[in-house]
Amino acid sequence: MIKKRRQSRAPNRQLTVLRCCCTVTEMAALRLLNFWAMLVTLSVCNGWLFENFGSYRNREADEVALWPLPQKIQISGAAFQLSSAGFQITHANGSTAGPSCSLLQNAFRRYFDYIFGNARKQGKNQQKVFDSELQELQVLLTAKDPECDGYPNLKTDESYQLEVDQPTSVLKAANVWGALRGLETFSQLVYEDDYGAHKINKTSISDFPRFAHRGILLDTSRHYLPLKAILTNLEAMAMNKFNVFHWHIVDDHSFPFLSRTFPDLSQRKGAFHPYTHVYTPSDVKMVIEFARMRGIRVVAEFDTPGHTQSWGKGQPDLLTPCFSGSSPTGTFGPVNPILNSTYDFMTRFFKEVSTVFPDAYIHLGGDEVDFSCWKSNPDIQKFMDQQGFGQDYKKLESYYIQRLLDIVSATNKGYMVWQEVFDNGVKLKGDTVVEVWMNNNVDGELQKVTGSGFTTILSAPWYLDYISYGQDWQKYYKVEPLSFQGTAEQKKLVIGGEACLWGEYVDGTNLTPRLWPRASAVGERLWSDENVKDINSAYNRLAKHRCRMVQRGIPAEPLYIGFCPHEYGGL
Ligand SMILES: *[C@@H]1O[C@H](CO)[C@@H](O)[C@H](O)[C@H]1NC(C)=O
Ligand SMILES: *[C@@H]1O[C@H](CO)[C@@H](O)[C@H](O)[C@H]1NC(C)=O
Ligand SMILES: *[C@@H]1O[C@H](CO)[C@@H](O)[C@H](O)[C@H]1NC(C)=O
Repeated sequence: MIKKRRQSRAPNRQLTVLRCCCTVTEMAALRLLNFWAMLVTLSVCNGWLFENFGSYRNREADEVALWPLPQKIQISGAAFQLSSAGFQITHANGSTAGPSCSLLQNAFRRYFDYIFGNARKQGKNQQKVFDSELQELQVLLTAKDPECDGYPNLKTDESYQLEVDQPTSVLKAANVWGALRGLETFSQLVYEDDYGAHKINKTSISDFPRFAHRGILLDTSRHYLPLKAILTNLEAMAMNKFNVFHWHIVDDHSFPFLSRTFPDLSQRKGAFHPYTHVYTPSDVKMVIEFARMRGIRVVAEFDTPGHTQSWGKGQPDLLTPCFSGSSPTGTFGPVNPILNSTYDFMTRFFKEVSTVFPDAYIHLGGDEVDFSCWKSNPDIQKFMDQQGFGQDYKKLESYYIQRLLDIVSATNKGYMVWQEVFDNGVKLKGDTVVEVWMNNNVDGELQKVTGSGFTTILSAPWYLDYISYGQDWQKYYKVEPLSFQGTAEQKKLVIGGEACLWGEYVDGTNLTPRLWPRASAVGERLWSDENVKDINSAYNRLAKHRCRMVQRGIPAEPLYIGFCPHEYGGL
């Protein structure tokens, strides 16, 4: 069985533009617009602050290609130079974090390298000459606990303020997570002029995400993804301000997670190969730490009772034996929900999982349970009779899930589930996150889930494993997650979404170019203001952002015809 194969213009009050001077070409372009626009042009070119209007389009932002677009920006025409010899990122005096904050130290180094990249290696730009040289970016954290050693969570404050000015710029945030987002934005503001000098304009930015959960799902069961592919993806996620790696780590096809409690799950044919195609405890630790350093949560998914064929290879009696008439066929179905041993196993297994993954949530799956094997099994039929379930196998499924949820709750974790679990009426804890993935009635489902008071994330419109000719990123970009009918309270319960890349046709060879920059479209939808939806602006910025990812070593595929200043594999 294959998995998941189904599949206005408003005034903008927040975005403002400040410009001191316009070039002749810009003036000419603006003059092509109507008289009213002319007035605006004059005011803009005289450097007045003005309120933007209509669907958002900010040519200045297009020029520097910020992605995702910040909530509030003012860019001026005053440009400063930076050089690798004369610029540094430092802790501001009075910041609650200092050099002992290794997460920040690491990020300072990373962003310094992103900014100067090849130029530094080639020794360009070493001379220190200019009056208008930017010397320092001071990072000022204000929270008493800036969370240097913590993990991001659903309530994390990722907001930041950035003042780019000379000789020092200041990035202010409550904690390290906001600082990481601000460093990314700062690095995106830096551009190379025609002579290869690094420049940045005087800029003021105040930014925060629209949605708290901005995820990417990778599937490491249908193909094993080498660690390097996962880490590269985490880097690309940070460049697009994603903050959740949904790790669909096991499924029918393989069980690469090496469990300390039940090593046989991966070692006895559950994994494609017991040594080369597994994630050892230290691999998993590395992924979690690499993600943490970039402000990314790792939410592991252990999907049951369906999608578990690989589990059965190393754990006898876990799966339901299927029958033909009165004799077993030798094949197996979903997890056997009628045995006590099943729940003993799940208790021990999820106890381990809850300590391996520090995130407050575990994804428990619960999708696409095939009832035919359960129906064929005489013991299950007997159990159904005893429980008074009749022929309603959804009741049996709910019985299993309910017991599983209680087991996981006892580990003090919250859980995420696919929408079927909610649809089947399972009693869920209040903090459960329901993931809406079926695209037959998305609005109706969002209405129902939020109407019942549950938080939800949306992935239905963002199944990026479906590919086609042309610019499908635009389709992903145009999705408005809150377009369903519902009260303001209901809309607040939509906490974000996920771009999913299922792995039937994806391994380490094509993961990155297939996912990026298509997922970037989802990144901006989930971060930026809802009025940020001008497709031409998005195209201009995304084409440049794609080149920036390429320059940083991410083989992101092109949007359309064109070139990058620094081509992948070029010098
Ligand atoms: C930055 O400043 C330069 C020099 O004044 C100007 O040409 C350019 O348009 C400015 N960039 C933005 C994005 O405003
Ligand atoms: C920060 O503190 C150091 C040492 O106390 C001092 O030398 C420096 O001038 C201060 N910098 C600013 C920008 O206040
Ligand atoms: C399963 O556990 C229940 C409750 O703990 C117990 O009543 C029942 O006898 C057990 N069944 C078997 C087959 O051990």
